[in-house]
Formats: sequence, C-alpha cells, structure tokens
Amino acid sequence: MGSGWRGILGFDYAIVQAPLGPNISGPELAAAVANAGAIGLIRLPDFPAPDYVRELIRKTRSLTSRPFGAAIVLPFPYEENLRVVLEEKLAVLQVYWGEFPREWVQEAHRAGVKVLHQEGLIPLLPRVVDLVSDSGIPVIAAGGIVDGRGYVAALAFGAQGVCLGTRFLATEESYAHPIYKEKVIEMSRTDYTNVFGRARWSYAPQRVLETPFYSGCKNLPDQETEENQPIIGHSIIHGVHKDIHRFAGIAPNPTATGDIGSMVMYAGQSVGLITEIIPAGEVVRRLVAEAKDVIRERLSDFH
Ligand SMILES: Cc1cc2nc3c(=O)[nH]c(=O)nc-3n(C[C@H](O)[C@H](O)[C@H](O)COP(=O)(O)O)c2cc1C
Repeated sequence: MGSGWRGILGFDYAIVQAPLGPNISGPELAAAVANAGAIGLIRLPDFPAPDYVRELIRKTRSLTSRPFGAAIVLPFPYEENLRVVLEEKLAVLQVYWGEFPREWVQEAHRAGVKVLHQEGLIPLLPRVVDLVSDSGIPVIAAGGIVDGRGYVAALAFGAQGVCLGTRFLATEESYAHPIYKEKVIEMSRTDYTNVFGRARWSYAPQRVLETPFYSGCKNLPDQETEENQPIIGHSIIHGVHKDIHRFAGIAPNPTATGDIGSMVMYAGQSVGLITEIIPAGEVVRRLVAEAKDVIRERLSDFH
C-alpha cells in the first residue's frame, strides 16, 4: 500500500482524531483512538493548569501504551501547558487558530514532539499539497470527512492523512453530554455562526447544529453577548466549576446540568452521515475497511 495509508508520524494509520473542546476529547477518547493505531489528541485547557495537564497525560498513559498527542488553542495562554507536553514528550502537538512561534516549533522538535498545525480545508487541499510538496511536510485533510469515501477522496487530493472531529464526537468514549451525542445522530442541518462565545473570543465563527434553540436566536444582534445573558446551567471543565450563560461557547460535557438543549452544539457539515454512536476504535477500523472497499469496488478499473 502507498504512503497514504501507513507510516505517518510513526502511527499505524494516517487518521487523526481532532481535538474537541473544551474537554470532549479527553483521555478515554484519545486512548481508544491510540489503541486502534490512529492519532488521538487530548484537548488541553484554555487556561494555565500544568499539574492538571500532567494528570490528563498520565491518565491517558494508564489507558494506552501507544503514542498520542495533545492540542492547544493559540489565542489563550498556553505556555505553561505546552511545557508539560514537551517535558512528557508526547508524540504530537496540535495547534490551532493563530501563529505558533517558530522557536516553540524548534523546541518541540528538540523534545521529539511533532507539531500539527490546523487550517480550514477541502477546496484548498490540492493547492496546499502542491505548495508543500517539496518540503516533506505531511498534509492531513480535515472537514466533513466521516467515512471511507472521504478518506479515499482526501488521499486522491494528495493528502497523506485525514482528521475527523464530528465523527469522533459521536463515539462511546467522547466526553460529550449524552443529549449532545443524540442530537449529532438525529440532526443533519448545521450553520456557521458567531452567536456563541462572543464575549470571550469576538470573531470566531464556528459551525453548530441547527437545534430549535439556535434557530430561534441565530439573528442575535452584534452587541449581545453571553455576558448579558442569564445562567442556563453549570458544568465542570478541566476540573473547574463554570456557570454556563446562554450563548456561551461551552459545549455540554456529561457534567453539564440545566438547559442542555440551549447550549452550543458544534458539529461539522457531514453530520447527517453520522447515524450511530460507536466505539472510537470502531471508527478507525471502519474507515480503513471502507476505504479499501471504495478502492476495490469503485476505483479498481484504474489499476
Ligand atoms: C465539538 C467540537 C470541538 C472542537 N474543538 C476544537 C479545538 O478545541 N481545537 C481545534 O483545533 N479544533 C477543534 N474542533 C475542530 C476540529 O479540530 C476539526 O477541524 C473539525 O471537527 C473537522 O471537521 P469535521 O467535524 O467535519 O470532521 C472542534 C470540532 C468539534 C465538532
């Protein structure tokens, strides 16, 4: 098999479980993905909590002996957490939404940590592949991939691997609230919006499920933010108790209480293709098996 299948960053499969904030991709999910031979990423807190990060890493190590990674979101203070990732010599660090200083990349490489940087994709994919073709940098496609068809399409565009977020959200091991997982299974419409989380992060539109709550408030005037809204529930995020205001950018995890249906539910455009909650390892196994079927049944004429 070609290089698109194996060998990327030393993992069996070039399949990445996307980081899912604020703490939906925790040790259980990342370890399940690692145990299936793919790249699992624990999503680290958006605030400095080095001891807690070390605990997350140790917990993940207690669930898998395979390599895995961690992810940070760059607009938030990340240095202290990042240092722990390097000290613990995780296999991979994923960074998103901003510039990651070159010095940190070099430091990560010195610690043996590979750095994945995420940018929005599919229409850009062949161009990105061409642009980096001489650099030896592997390109991983993300966005709307949920099954073997998407996997093969990404490989055909020249990517070396794929990264899936929403598909891993709807797994047994993901740390999303059961109602959130159910909605991902039931619903197929999404919208791109900045209604949620404006106070904390002013221009960060994200894709969400068109839940009845969202449909009723999607034209929220710009000056409205979660800060002037009532508290609709509570949650524990990375060990910290939080009030959840209406329109906060906090997706519900299993500790969330209150009006879960009115909390933000992030999801990708291919959510309609996801119809059951399955183990994360099964996601990896199905992707590989389905991709082989697609190649055998639909592409064999090109051999
Ligand atoms: C619930 C949820 C939370 C996410 N949180 C993060 C995050 O914290 N950091 C990040 O880089 N990407 C985050 N993403 C985006 C994913 O990394 C990935 O790019 C995206 O999910 C890929 O598209 P897909 O969901 O169609 O597979 C999140 C996505 C979802 C669905």
